[in-house]
Formats: sequence, C-alpha cells, structure tokens
Amino acid sequence: MNKKRTSLTQYLVEKQRTDKALPPELRLLIEIVSRACKTISHHVSKGALGGVLGSLGTENIQGEVQKKLDVISNEYLLEANEWGGHLAAMASEEMEAIYLIPNRYPKGEYLLLFDPLDGSSNIDVNVSIGTIFSVIKAPADASGRDICEADFMQPGHTQVAAGYAIYGPQTMLVLTVGEGVVGFTLDREMGSWVLTHEDLTIPEQTSEFAINMSNTRHWEKPVNRYIDECLAGTEGPRGKNFNMRWIASMVADVHRLIIRGGVFMYPWDARDPNKPGKLRLMYEANPMSFLVEQAGGMSTNGRTRIMDIQPQGLHERVSVVMGSKEEVERVTRYHLEAD
Ligand code: AHG
Ligand code: MN
Ligand code: MN
Ligand code: MN
Repeated sequence: MNKKRTSLTQYLVEKQRTDKALPPELRLLIEIVSRACKTISHHVSKGALGGVLGSLGTENIQGEVQKKLDVISNEYLLEANEWGGHLAAMASEEMEAIYLIPNRYPKGEYLLLFDPLDGSSNIDVNVSIGTIFSVIKAPADASGRDICEADFMQPGHTQVAAGYAIYGPQTMLVLTVGEGVVGFTLDREMGSWVLTHEDLTIPEQTSEFAINMSNTRHWEKPVNRYIDECLAGTEGPRGKNFNMRWIASMVADVHRLIIRGGVFMYPWDARDPNKPGKLRLMYEANPMSFLVEQAGGMSTNGRTRIMDIQPQGLHERVSVVMGSKEEVERVTRYHLEAD
C-alpha cells in the first residue's frame, strides 16, 4: 500500500487537538484560502493559453501597472472568502480600501490580508510567482460595528496564521499557525494538498544572499559593508565565499531560504528616500516574518524586529532583512553600529 499521505485538512484538524487548539473557524478559513490558491495555480499554469498574461493598463494603489493575473487572483480570493462566515473584512495589495464582508453574508472574527499575486514582473516570463496571506483577529469590540482600516493596524506578532502558495515547477503551500512551519505539495490529479515538508527549519548559518544588486549605489552604508564583505569571499573578513540569487519574486526568494537557508534583503534605498523600503509591511513582510521566525530564522528592518513594528497604514512599506539568524544579526548589528 502507498505511504500514508497527510492532507492539509488532516494536518489542521490535528492542530485543533494540540494545546494551542486551532479554532475550527480558523481551520476552515485556511482551507478556503488554500482552495483559492489552487484555482490561481490552475490559471497561472495556463499562461498564454488562458489569456492571463500581460497588463491591464490600470494602476493599483502602489502606483504599479496591474497585470491581468494581479486582478484575477485578487478576485478569486475575494469571491472564495466573502461567504464563509469566518471573516469580518479583507485587505489586499491590489485594493486601496479594505473590503467589508457584504451584508448578505455572516461576519466572522478574522481579518485576512493578502498579496494575491507576488512577483508580478515575472508573470510574462514564466518565472515562479506566488500568493502571500496573513490572518489576524478582528478587535473584540468590532463585532457590533463595521470594521475600519484602524482595526487592521496590528503589529505582525498578533498574526494567528500566515502562509504562501508558490506557483513554480511544483505548486506548494507553506503555512504556519504558530506551531512551526510545514509545506504541502499540490497533487494536481487528486486536487489535494499533500504534506511533504513536516518541519521546515532555516539553518542559522548560510553562504547565500539575495538582494537586487542594481541598487548598490543607493543603499545605506551598513548594507554596502555587509554585501562587500560577502563579495570579498575567502580573502575578506568573512573568510568564506558567498553565492547570490535574485528571483525578484519575494515568495520564491524566501521559499529558497526556508528550504536551504540564506538571507533575503530589500533594504531602504535612496531612489525614493521617503519610502522606508519597497516591500509592504502588512501583506508581504509580516506574513513572511511570521514564517521565517517560526522556522527558526530572524526578520528585521535592519534595526528592529519587523513583527514588532506598529503599522500606521494598510499599504505602508518597510525595509526587509530576513532569513538565517547569524546573517540577519550581522546586518542588523552593522546598522546599529552606524547609527
Ligand atoms: P509584487 O509583484 O506583489 O508587487 O511584489 C514584487 C516585489 C517582491 O515580490 C520582490 O522581491 C520585489 O518586488 C522585486 O523588486 P525588484 O523588481 O525591484 O527587484
Ligand atoms: Mn505589485
Ligand atoms: Mn508582492
Ligand atoms: Mn502583488
């Protein structure tokens, strides 16, 4: 008989029985999000055959040209999650305002935030992309009133679940509910998520960094110091050679470091000095930080723990340094020494 396969549902039902007792409503929410990711994966894999490539000519709140798949993915996540009764509201990279659950549906106690399609610049060139999601609880006093944006302004350490789907050679779902990090691989024939990575942990040491080197002349000095030392290799102060990767899909660059270690950096740069960084705190940096910390890694903005940052706005950006603990500690130390 084939090896016993654990499904996403079984994993979550068993988490309901641990001392942290995953709430059934949260289990159902995660299952619905995972089903929406299956739908997105199906459309992503059709590419040109499905008419999902290319841009719409519209701009989102970020000032980015929206790809067709940005909007298609966003709509799938809204449609899948609005009727289930688990959510009070949603927020997305692709929508300026929060999305209230329509009055015809019951409201729940959770708030869902997502980047429906991460790595949009890779869609038309067939490079791995993904979906990132974050779950927080609606404030207790919100049950009798409409949710407002202020209810979403919770630091990352309040998250109760976070994960991403990566649409690559395999479609995988990587998830944490606060008890470690697990990975599921989509069995397309059965249409089910199968547990394939039971305890994802990030090695504390690494020789691999991910950063967009074209921004070198725009970085703060501590970033230049760290990267120069990596590039100096065995002759330099690190005494070892480093490898570099940059896929330009955060999901893919972070998935790699969760699987084999590494440090991922998107630091502040002088191209747009008023922006603290390119990546968005609420639906990119926070969920990825929850996963990275649960896998034994570390995540800061160069100076402070990302999950301790008190958000001021739904689409605020943040500088990101995350991954193997030893490297993130070093980059952070260089920033603090320079201050
Ligand atoms: P999104 O496609 O959701 O807007 O996110 C893109 C982000 C992130 O996925 C990636 O790490 C980064 O942009 C790449 O930025 P550069 O193109 O500047 O390298
Ligand atoms: Mn975008
Ligand atoms: Mn993104
Ligand atoms: Mn996106």
